[in-house]
Amino acid sequence: KKSDFGVFGLGVMGSSISLNIADKGYELSVYNRADSGEEEVVKNFISANADRPNIKGFTDLKLFIDSMARPRKILIMIKAGPAVDLVLNSLIPMLSEGDIIIDGGNSHYLNTKRRFDLAQSQGIEFIGAGISGGEEGARKGPSIMPGGRKESYAYVSEILEAIAAKDDFGKTCCTYIGPDGSGHFIKMVHNGIEYVEMQLLAELYGLMSKRMTNDEIAAVFESWNKGKLSSYLLEITILILRKKEGSSYLIDMILDKAGNKGTGSWSSKAAFDLGIPNTMMSAAVFARYISSFKEVRENMSKLVRTDSNMEQELNISILEKSYEFARLVNHQQGFKLMQQASESYGWNLDFSEIARIWSNGCIIKSHLMNILYKEFQTKEDLFEMETVNKALVKGESATREILMTALRSRFSLHCFSAAYHYWVDMTTERLPANLIQAQRDFFGAHTYQRIDAPESDFYHTKW
Ligand code: 6PG
Repeated sequence: KKSDFGVFGLGVMGSSISLNIADKGYELSVYNRADSGEEEVVKNFISANADRPNIKGFTDLKLFIDSMARPRKILIMIKAGPAVDLVLNSLIPMLSEGDIIIDGGNSHYLNTKRRFDLAQSQGIEFIGAGISGGEEGARKGPSIMPGGRKESYAYVSEILEAIAAKDDFGKTCCTYIGPDGSGHFIKMVHNGIEYVEMQLLAELYGLMSKRMTNDEIAAVFESWNKGKLSSYLLEITILILRKKEGSSYLIDMILDKAGNKGTGSWSSKAAFDLGIPNTMMSAAVFARYISSFKEVRENMSKLVRTDSNMEQELNISILEKSYEFARLVNHQQGFKLMQQASESYGWNLDFSEIARIWSNGCIIKSHLMNILYKEFQTKEDLFEMETVNKALVKGESATREILMTALRSRFSLHCFSAAYHYWVDMTTERLPANLIQAQRDFFGAHTYQRIDAPESDFYHTKW
């Protein structure tokens, strides 16, 4: 019997998603190359899953392709980057017209667009699908963000929707996003929001550490996680803070250099290109970069007084209000970026649906996402949502307070301050940008507009 579906690549994500597909009763073909250290990958996977006769393993590409019913549906689960092009170059010529390739990695959306065009020119359908949820999500139900031609999505929707997580109403956390690279764009912004959510928790942990033990911080986070601030990232942070290795906390032993694979910086670059002030994402990316200069930091730290004591007692309810404030600004900025992309690229994205498929399965799933799912049915921006605005107005003074506490104790809050300054500027009628305009006109005759004349009129002064 021919297989319903194929998975190319049996890494952590590929094997987890394969088991997920097999669990749903589909006939599945899996492929992994068998060279340079990967000789046993397929063999091991098949023998470990001998109780699942609906999975067939292949190390020969032709046999893998021949094993599938047409139109073939092949999900490639390999490391994003040039490897995807290599795989497409060998795969596409062996496929038949109408076959469908799904790239399930964190590919850059512009690469996805390019690959989509290439595949189309050879009669092959291409879907760029963002998949979130890590190993556990892939195994038990990820959030899936497919972009491409709607007609080709129709062929794979049944399987993708069957393996995805379910939202609170039992609906699948997989929905058609839009044309060409839109699915991967959405996944990129998901990761940008993820970077900020992680950095906010790291900043809170760092600040709170000055007066509190890991267990005390975990207890505070645990109480927050029972209410409207609850999220997957908050939940795992509690577990991380409590994890012990013998008598010491594991977190205390982890080197303070944050890595990244690029999606955060891609989000920031996209924001720069689209003219959207995604200040929190950039701050989160730069905070990771700064952390990576460990040696410089070590040396430079000798120059300054390193008394890290904090005299002031931390007010937990102020921290909580500020955390809520910063998370709302993060989501406002993230969704704004997608809105601009949707408009600029004509994608016609449905933000209520995006929030809904992010309400479970993915790394940034949270109580807030469920609220946004409902709010986006009638509103277009978080700033238009009354509940959001109220919390932002209320959270401003709390955020000011924790920023002042942090400044006094020589602790940086990159993301909290980015959130604060963005909010302050967005709620300020007149900014000092008039001086920027005057300077531009002074040295470059770039012209300026006047408050006492129509916006369509541009002036130049001989300064
Ligand atoms: C997810 C994650 C996943 C991956 C990130 C990590 O949604 O499942 O976002 O895609 O863990 O790419 O990115 P960094 O290595 O850049 O932190």
